[in-house]
Amino acid sequence: MTDTETNPETDGGIDAGTGTESGYDGDSRGDTTPVPIADPELSADARERVTAILEDGRLADGPEVRAFEEEFATYCGANEGVATSNGTTALHAALEAVGLDDGDAVITSPFSFVASANAIRLAGGTPVFADIDPETYTLDPADVRRILADRDDVVGLLPVHLYGLPADMPTLCAIADEHDLFVVEDACQAHGAKVDGQRVGTCGDAACFSFYPTKNMTTGEGGMIVTDRDDVADRAASFVNHGRDVSGTGSYDHVCLGHNFRMTSIAAAIGRVQLERLPKFNRTRRENAAVYDEELADLPLETPTVPTDRRHVYHQYTVRTDDRDALAATLAERDIGTGIYYETPIHRQPAYETVSTAAAQLPAAELAADEVLSLPVHQELSAGDRRTVVEAVRDHFTSQ
Ligand SMILES: Cc1ncc(COP(=O)(O)O)c(C=O)c1O
Repeated sequence: MTDTETNPETDGGIDAGTGTESGYDGDSRGDTTPVPIADPELSADARERVTAILEDGRLADGPEVRAFEEEFATYCGANEGVATSNGTTALHAALEAVGLDDGDAVITSPFSFVASANAIRLAGGTPVFADIDPETYTLDPADVRRILADRDDVVGLLPVHLYGLPADMPTLCAIADEHDLFVVEDACQAHGAKVDGQRVGTCGDAACFSFYPTKNMTTGEGGMIVTDRDDVADRAASFVNHGRDVSGTGSYDHVCLGHNFRMTSIAAAIGRVQLERLPKFNRTRRENAAVYDEELADLPLETPTVPTDRRHVYHQYTVRTDDRDALAATLAERDIGTGIYYETPIHRQPAYETVSTAAAQLPAAELAADEVLSLPVHQELSAGDRRTVVEAVRDHFTSQ
């Protein structure tokens, strides 16, 4: 890594949990230097592309943003992309675009970054929390069915592809079809993940990505909605630009209420270069995860479960143990960054006290919050870093 991140993290990032802040050159890292939980890589090409934008002078919305939208949508196998200022605004705009009305209920996961549920509230809806599958940490379809049997105000599902592992989209989409619900995928942590060989982003009505620096690819701050539905793309593109008429007149005609959720050209320039590198980043993350799977298999902790129909892209490599806090302390003593995503489920957050559905009993999410710990798995880890992490985890359990 060549840039030092000092931004207070929205998603438990570089300095989160027991994580150590990174700010050194990964190439010169040896076994004794800290191993951060995240380490975004910005190549010389990204700097060149940003310089070109600065020289060109079109810094806001423009051709660079349109090119990034097209390239990212193509990568996902979707028809349309709409760039946004971050993942939260992507979710908000997508919910508006699929027709969420004030007071409508949307089922989502309580075990996610708070933005998943905040976006529903910001768009005027009410989040309803279904419990998670304790193996995959994603929305449990059986609990979704239980809720749908009880209430008739639910209009949509917002599953979260947590840690880079897709939710059970075939089952969730079948439920959505039966009940005539929209599906907006929170793919903010899952760039390039697949279900049944198909990239996330094309399973539901729309999918939303974040390009925050800790993510598998970054634009600094940034987000993207992808969709196969032209009507959703048009409404989202209008909403992120103050409800401007998207019919191409370029005029100041505003056909509905909207926000300024636009992406800058500088962010798009970085994103286009990062997208070219995403397949390599994901390959490296998967290789790192395979090493951990093998080296930690005999220890008393749970390594990630990946159902056979899904391709995990390891935004996080998350283990589970009832000795979580002591394990995190051992790793911190050795300057190894870890993260707890998420220590407090959303329905237990103070900001959710007034949300009526937050009183739900969600035992799987609550137990996961007590037991999960994410280890460094990013694309900048060296073989020495991986060894350092494996040895520290092994020492922790074998010295007990
Ligand atoms: C699951 C999830 N949803 C939504 C978001 C919101 O994205 P952003 O931070 O870019 O607004 C994030 C990331 O931070 C996330 O991890």
